Amino acid sequence: MAASWTPQSWRSKPIRQVPTYPDQAALEAVEARLRTHPPLVFAGEARNLLSGLGDVALGNAFLLQGGDCAESFAEFAANNIRDTFCVFLAMATVLTFAGGKPVVKVGRIAGQFAKPRSDDFETRDGVTLPSYRGDNINGGDFTAEERTPDPERMMRAYYQAAATANLVRAFATGGYADLSRARHWNLDHHHPDLGRRYNEVVDKIDEGVGFMRTFSLEDAVRQQTSRVDYYFSHEALLLPYEEALTRQDSITGSHYATSGHMLWIGDRTRQIDGAHVEYCRGIKNPIGIKCGPSLSEEELIKLLAILNPSNTPGRITLIARFGSDKIAQHLPRLIRAVEREGAHVIWSCDPMHGNTLKLQSGYKTRPVDRVLDEIRSFFAIHRAEGTYAGGIHLEMTGQDVTECTGGAQALKEIDLFDRYRTACDPRLNASQALEIAFLIADTLRAERQKGEPIAASA
Ligand code: PEP
Ligand code: CO
Repeated sequence: MAASWTPQSWRSKPIRQVPTYPDQAALEAVEARLRTHPPLVFAGEARNLLSGLGDVALGNAFLLQGGDCAESFAEFAANNIRDTFCVFLAMATVLTFAGGKPVVKVGRIAGQFAKPRSDDFETRDGVTLPSYRGDNINGGDFTAEERTPDPERMMRAYYQAAATANLVRAFATGGYADLSRARHWNLDHHHPDLGRRYNEVVDKIDEGVGFMRTFSLEDAVRQQTSRVDYYFSHEALLLPYEEALTRQDSITGSHYATSGHMLWIGDRTRQIDGAHVEYCRGIKNPIGIKCGPSLSEEELIKLLAILNPSNTPGRITLIARFGSDKIAQHLPRLIRAVEREGAHVIWSCDPMHGNTLKLQSGYKTRPVDRVLDEIRSFFAIHRAEGTYAGGIHLEMTGQDVTECTGGAQALKEIDLFDRYRTACDPRLNASQALEIAFLIADTLRAERQKGEPIAASA
């Protein structure tokens, strides 16, 4: 590693998107408490994810990453966690069995609280207050008290992440995610066509599993289908929290973030000499990098050299988030730069963050048509470049919200008034998420049927 790295070396670097805590002593007291708290994930699990992502980087698996834009204290409830997990399983089922690829499953969950903001301040009716930055930093209500960053919120977020992780682990391994229950994972009851397609997939799975059983492979089948590996991810934005949960692995001696299995660097905090890149270069977890229109080829190549000097497949996921109208202009130049360099990366498509609109009514939304458009372009560009489109990164929820317009339910702007509940950006609801899973599965299957060898990146 270049200059020496420590869990706190980010503190000497320029930093963006930091909250200004009014009481430094209170902040330090929380950091000290967090340092004594148990890790939320283990280094060995992060290594398993790295190995699964290595398969994705080489073209042999597909990455599904998704969940809330921001978890919130108000929406913390077992049913919400269950439903988001359920939609995730339904999507993974479609991608695995209709798309024909093993799916690496990574939730934006159990720690996805902190939000980067375009402006540090928000003004309403002549009153200016700090912007809302996520429930682990400050509150959303427009009062001076709520908007003042409070370090105690980190503790509450830690405990909520721990309880969420506990429940999701139980769902993943305790019977809920058993493939024999796949019929129950479709939460969409609005759109009979989607339901019918989903049930057809499940019928085929049942046939296949039954067929394997006739070979007396009962135990092997049960082992493979009774549980899923599910990982937790979030943006590595709030570095005092990340530093306090960084641990040295007793087996390898390496440092790992133990706040989640995979962390990503946001589009606003990926400066090569900045604090967030400095923190992430020293931890061994898989790392995502959000790639927006302002990212130059040179910067990207430098980021890869800093964050993955050993060029390990699976270490870096490049999460492309250009917008349906900009992807054609930016993705090819970045793919070519990565190919020239021979760098191993996963290319994943975030079709959410470049397609956000602010409506006259004040609501932020994302038209599903634009989301689908960006996904189609993402696959087409990779096909043209001969590279592998390896993943998708979505903001979605199992709740029946009305936040993104369009889709199978043809939600209109007026419908946003009904059930708009996100703490930050608009999410896909269950039917919109399933629709996207089918689009991707169809694309994956078409590529497989054409028999095109899938070129691994580099
Ligand atoms: C996000 O993923 O919620 C986010 C803020 O993304 P980006 O950094 O790409 O804008
Ligand atoms: Co978001």
